[in-house]
Amino acid sequence: MAPARIIVLISGTGSTLAALIRAAQAPDSAFEIVGVLADGDAPGLAHARQAAIPTAVVPLRDHPTRADWDRALAAAIAELSGRALPDLVVLAGFMKLVGPAVLSAHPGRIINTHPALLPSFPGAHGVRDALAHGVKITGATVIEVDAGIDTGRILAQRAVEVHEGDTEETLHERIKVVEREMLVDVVSSLAAAPAPQPA
Ligand code: GAR
Repeated sequence: MAPARIIVLISGTGSTLAALIRAAQAPDSAFEIVGVLADGDAPGLAHARQAAIPTAVVPLRDHPTRADWDRALAAAIAELSGRALPDLVVLAGFMKLVGPAVLSAHPGRIINTHPALLPSFPGAHGVRDALAHGVKITGATVIEVDAGIDTGRILAQRAVEVHEGDTEETLHERIKVVEREMLVDVVSSLAAAPAPQPA
């Protein structure tokens, strides 16, 4: 079976993307990364360039409305993907909500990784919010993306203990270790499953 074709969206340092790239480069990988998209000049784009994966940047500020940006994002995904739409779109530290144009182009085939145990602590500051709440266990969650803020169906979850004296940075780094592994597992199993047929 040909490897599933994946597009990855990032905003930050891209350590999660780097893990996906390493997994995709393994000889028997069920997926290949055909493009990486960012909403700005994300440092993580360097991982894609190093691996000779095509990249595109679609900043929100370059578009008059959010709906225009969303349509431009959908078009950029289609263009990066080339001959056919991707089998899976993976948000790996993408810090913006995708809108109806992107969602409707890839029904049930967009996933997001989040650094907290959803439905607790959704949004842009999952690690900070969990720490501020004083939880003793947090973790990471991979969800199917819907129109809400981290409200989609939960596909996988792993727990991480909060240590005495943890800062947002130390805790986030420990979460990212399990998060990367979990995301690679989820992408590999979705890639091996047949794509849903249009209704
Ligand atoms: C990851 O922990 C991811 O869950 C988080 O950004 C980090 C990206 O790290 N995403 C969110 O918080 C989305 N709400 P990276 O840039 O090193 O891959």
